[in-house]
Amino acid sequence: MVINWALSLNTISSNSQINAHYLREREMEVVQVLCMNGGTGETSYANNSLLQQKVISMTKPIAEEAIANLYCNTLPRSIAIADLGCSSGPNTLLVVSELIKEVDKLRQKLGHDSPEYQVYLNDLPGNDFNTIFKSLPSFQKEMSYQLGPGAGPCLFSGTPGSFYGRLFPSNCLHFVHSSYSLHWLSQVPEGLDNNKGNIYMASTSPPCVFKAYYEQFQRDFSIFLKCRAEELVAGGRMVLTLLGRRSEDPSSKECCYIYELMAMALNDMVSEGLIEEDKVNSFNIPNYTPSPSELKFEVLKGGDFSIEHLEVSEVNWNIYDGEFNPSNGFSNDGYGVAKYMRAVAEPLLVTHFGDAIIDEIFHRYGKIIDDRISKEKTQFTNLTISVTKKG
Ligand SMILES: C[S@@+](CC[C@H](N)C(=O)[O-])C[C@H]1O[C@@H](n2cnc3c(N)ncnc32)[C@H](O)[C@@H]1O
Repeated sequence: MVINWALSLNTISSNSQINAHYLREREMEVVQVLCMNGGTGETSYANNSLLQQKVISMTKPIAEEAIANLYCNTLPRSIAIADLGCSSGPNTLLVVSELIKEVDKLRQKLGHDSPEYQVYLNDLPGNDFNTIFKSLPSFQKEMSYQLGPGAGPCLFSGTPGSFYGRLFPSNCLHFVHSSYSLHWLSQVPEGLDNNKGNIYMASTSPPCVFKAYYEQFQRDFSIFLKCRAEELVAGGRMVLTLLGRRSEDPSSKECCYIYELMAMALNDMVSEGLIEEDKVNSFNIPNYTPSPSELKFEVLKGGDFSIEHLEVSEVNWNIYDGEFNPSNGFSNDGYGVAKYMRAVAEPLLVTHFGDAIIDEIFHRYGKIIDDRISKEKTQFTNLTISVTKKG
């Protein structure tokens, strides 16, 4: 049901039926293939998501301020919170627990009865929901211990489906959160045939590649906003953090470099005959890393939300930069960076290149990153936007 609705939105936005059919196929591919590495093993997202956890901590004050405002302005009897692109691992329930604690603190201060909390955890259908569900009983026990008597029940549901389509009934959500998920597009943009030797927007990409990526972002993000506007109550809040860039230049190193280095590893393997050149030429990452003004433009164009905050922050690729790293002391750790990139990108790479060469790709990628981070400052740029649904 959910996927069909997402697809029908895409159909509306395309011009010919043939084109619509092709778009449907491409979107289906990403929906089916994209997921983080599941489980709790060595290469799992659960074990390689410290960078994303750091970003959640950095942006926590913005999320807390938004839910505090929502609660104090509306004093709801029941609060419905959705985390979109929740993945599976220690970060999945982290934000939600902090948001609930914030509301509980406020309601005690104001002397109100506790609301009930309905929590919806969303991700693509291939996400490892089983691991999340298995962790819920101990999480709920810990939450009720931390909140103490008088706190309302926390009721959890999983919502598999793409956030580029409707996920929830109309007017049912009070708060939407999403971290490090919305830079994923619904599909690889069309028209990337000339992006030879690159796997994302790169300094050597022709202008049509930047245009194709930007237009896909615009289509996707406007659909995302329309769907959330249907689902949120008037005055409902949304806090979104995604990878982006400060610069207006989409070929800026701050957003493209990480995949330029992955392309280097792949191209080295092409030159050694380990991968076919055509395979690399036809592989492109379905991400877009917008600038603050591109993000703002889409929100204002949609007209359903007012912007409370739009903040830009940076996080080092090497999360232990200058700090003690339990795996290698105080050295740089390009292999550690490659490891968390693997947890995120492996299913996409395996689908395209097969699994036989995956270890080799990430070994080479780690070596290249290790070299670069010892010579230059390497950071991801994050955009966090906090918005309110207009009445
Ligand atoms: C890097 S993880 C972030 C997970 C978690 N929010 C965190 O901060 O650790 C990105 C997640 O977004 C999900 N995702 C990407 N595109 C999506 C879509 N269209 N609909 C729902 N989830 C999506 C991916 O499956 C993945 O689990």
